Amino acid sequence: QQQANEITLKPKESKTKISKHIYGHFAEHLGRCIYDGFYIGEENKVIPNTNGVRNDIIAALKNLNIPNLRWPGGCFADTYHWKDGIGPKKDRPSIVNTWWGGVTENNSFGTHDFLNMCELLNTEPYLAGNLATGTVQELSDWVQYVNFNGDSPMSKLRRANGRDTAWKVKFWGVGNEAWGCGGNMKPDYYANEYRKYATFMTDWENSSKVFRIASGANGGDYNWTETLMKNIPRNLIEGIALHHYANVTWSKKGSATQFSEQQYFATMKSALHMEELVIKHSAIMDKYDPDKKIALVVDEWGGWYEVEPGTNPGFLYQQNTIRDAMIAGVTLNVFNNHAERVRMANLAQTVNVLQAVILTEKEKMILTPTYHVLEMYKVHQDATLIPLSINTQEYALGDEKLPALSASASIDKNGVTHITLVNIDAKKTHELKINIQDQAYKTISGRIVNSAKLNDFNSFQNPDLIKPAVFKDAQLKGNQIQVVLPAHSVVVLALK
Ligand code: AHR
Repeated sequence: QQQANEITLKPKESKTKISKHIYGHFAEHLGRCIYDGFYIGEENKVIPNTNGVRNDIIAALKNLNIPNLRWPGGCFADTYHWKDGIGPKKDRPSIVNTWWGGVTENNSFGTHDFLNMCELLNTEPYLAGNLATGTVQELSDWVQYVNFNGDSPMSKLRRANGRDTAWKVKFWGVGNEAWGCGGNMKPDYYANEYRKYATFMTDWENSSKVFRIASGANGGDYNWTETLMKNIPRNLIEGIALHHYANVTWSKKGSATQFSEQQYFATMKSALHMEELVIKHSAIMDKYDPDKKIALVVDEWGGWYEVEPGTNPGFLYQQNTIRDAMIAGVTLNVFNNHAERVRMANLAQTVNVLQAVILTEKEKMILTPTYHVLEMYKVHQDATLIPLSINTQEYALGDEKLPALSASASIDKNGVTHITLVNIDAKKTHELKINIQDQAYKTISGRIVNSAKLNDFNSFQNPDLIKPAVFKDAQLKGNQIQVVLPAHSVVVLALK
């Protein structure tokens, strides 16, 4: 007999802000994310657009309040030379995107196009700098080009290209996956390179500081984090990255939509592994940075499967099912609960690539189950975390067991408490009691994302099969809530 499911919220212990930047996104020059995704070209008269960026995508992402957007990669970032993407489009050189499909990249979407798009999206840009095939001068010039308002060679060039005031970009990556596609470096070598690049990245005006993010570990490579923390002086670094993707196995990733319960279970196990990674990398950071000045930035996360049949294997186009809604729900709960150290994260990737929130096909656009989870969770952005303890029953398959339930909670600036709950169990409804210490509420409301089958998804023929619905199975009595969570569901509760 398993113990009952029970969660206790401790509002009196609240002290940590959940940074809105945990809810960030990632857009790489990869497959159909930028070209034929966000960007369809200024000359497109069929699909409504602003400077070539689809208006429907802008509206959908604004509705998520996306706080930041990482660009131009990923692996692509360490091949990208930003000066190829400025000036008249007809004069920009074409290059080959060697990492992603070997396609020709004509650089028609460059720095101005991206930063102006971020203004339309009301989001903060996060520029990923090229450390592996670039130079210190090139990256330093990029910072000067986008951030300096005074007179200088780069600000003159920017003005000549039509932009008077600097965009003031705060977030900067210094290389990407330096242990792999970013140069196959060893951590101590990268740490030295990082120190050199970071030294010349100032904001050029001595006003707001730039926020420099070191290329972080691949999953459980704790030695990477340790070496960087030990060797990079505190005044040169504001964030350290971590990448972790959820999948069945890297060698047999399986279909995005046709998967067995075993494959689902393995994916959930891999997604839940994020908590161990965050705890262990944070513990190393605590040794060198007990005041938690440096943020852990999980700037790539999400589910990674085989591409959809018939699509370019280098384009990483995959559908998105209720399994992905589960990944998003549990991962964001982990980030919220560890918000003291995890202060930024980026789901990979926004449009048409990996665990996308938006898929497009010609003029059509659909919102994926992952989109709906992020929309429900946006209430946590910049709210104050409410610590909680959780007793959860197990979701078992064969000899293996996972915690069935996951949760996080926060209180927003208007005094509304939100609780997000996930039941990953493939078959079983779970009843749950929530106690809230020293606090009583008058009203409760809720929304739910789920579907009859785990592998249901929104298609271009049936775009709204999965979308949030009103959730009525939460009964409030003072400071106790009884909840009935259906199998494979994500729920948000609002308490006043
Ligand atoms: O998101 C796709 C790729 O995954 C990124 O380019 C790279 O950083 C990671 O390996």
